[in-house]
Amino acid sequence: MAEPTFMQLVPASGPTTARETVDTLALRHPDPDPPPRPYTIANFVASADGRAAFAGRSGTLSDPGDRALFHALRERVDAVIVGTGTLRKERYGRVIPDAERRRRRLAAGRAAEPLAVTATRSGELPLEIPLFASAGSRVVVFAPAVPDLHGVAAAVEHVPLNPAAGTSLASAMAVLSHDHGVQTLLCEGGPTLFGALLHAGLIDELFLTLAPRLAGGDSGPPVTTGPPLPELAELRLVGLLRRGDTLYLRYAVSS
Ligand SMILES: NC(=O)c1ccc[n+]([C@@H]2O[C@H](COP(=O)([O-])OP(=O)(O)OC[C@H]3O[C@@H](n4cnc5c(N)ncnc54)[C@H](OP(=O)(O)O)[C@@H]3O)[C@@H](O)[C@H]2O)c1
Repeated sequence: MAEPTFMQLVPASGPTTARETVDTLALRHPDPDPPPRPYTIANFVASADGRAAFAGRSGTLSDPGDRALFHALRERVDAVIVGTGTLRKERYGRVIPDAERRRRRLAAGRAAEPLAVTATRSGELPLEIPLFASAGSRVVVFAPAVPDLHGVAAAVEHVPLNPAAGTSLASAMAVLSHDHGVQTLLCEGGPTLFGALLHAGLIDELFLTLAPRLAGGDSGPPVTTGPPLPELAELRLVGLLRRGDTLYLRYAVSS
């Protein structure tokens, strides 16, 4: 099937594809003394009234352009982090199911698939989803204690995350970078985990697909949930694509 074509509006250019766009991204800290954690980008689709889900799923807001960017971003990064709510709701499977994409990653000197990462306070992982049933999956779990992994086929490793015991999202991210070699991390949500990462100053970029749809009322969560930030996080528009009535924004996040 032909790849969707976008018009690149910022920086002003011509037609492009998701892969061409993502291939040119630096995805690294510009400062010479970067923080000891992966360069972290978040990717969300939202309705024009700011909802991240409709009828319980984000796919209802998505379109072929959004899906092309979603997969192109996965193809570029070392790891993908998702909260257990989204893992469960969206029934996550292998991060790169497509063999051609896995081949391209290997040819580019990357692992065939990004590491999957999740975070939980309760320790209750959705072990029934295809991600944990696949022997090819590598999963890192940020959790207070080693989770019960009875019957799991995936290779799972534990990284401590227990603020009461002095381990934080920031320290878990540092472990991800130091022990697992993760330099680029893609956060696919959901709103609770994204809110917590934003609060901790751990997000560098936001890719936001603005769907030309209204969800209305409390039809789903907004893009972030949890306590408000102490002050507004300023965004700088560094990229904008358009395809039909949908806008695909790329923001640099200042923290
Ligand atoms: N529009 C989009 O692009 C998009 C993207 C993703 C998801 N969604 C939608 O969002 C909804 C799910 O929202 P959600 O907020 O429940 O999802 P979520 O953020 O994926 O999951 C929340 C769970 O993740 C764990 N978690 C989050 N922050 C944590 C932290 N700081 N430390 C430790 N664990 C943490 C907790 O797990 P435990 O309960 O196990 O402790 C928490 O209950 C679904 O409807 C999904 O479709 C939309």
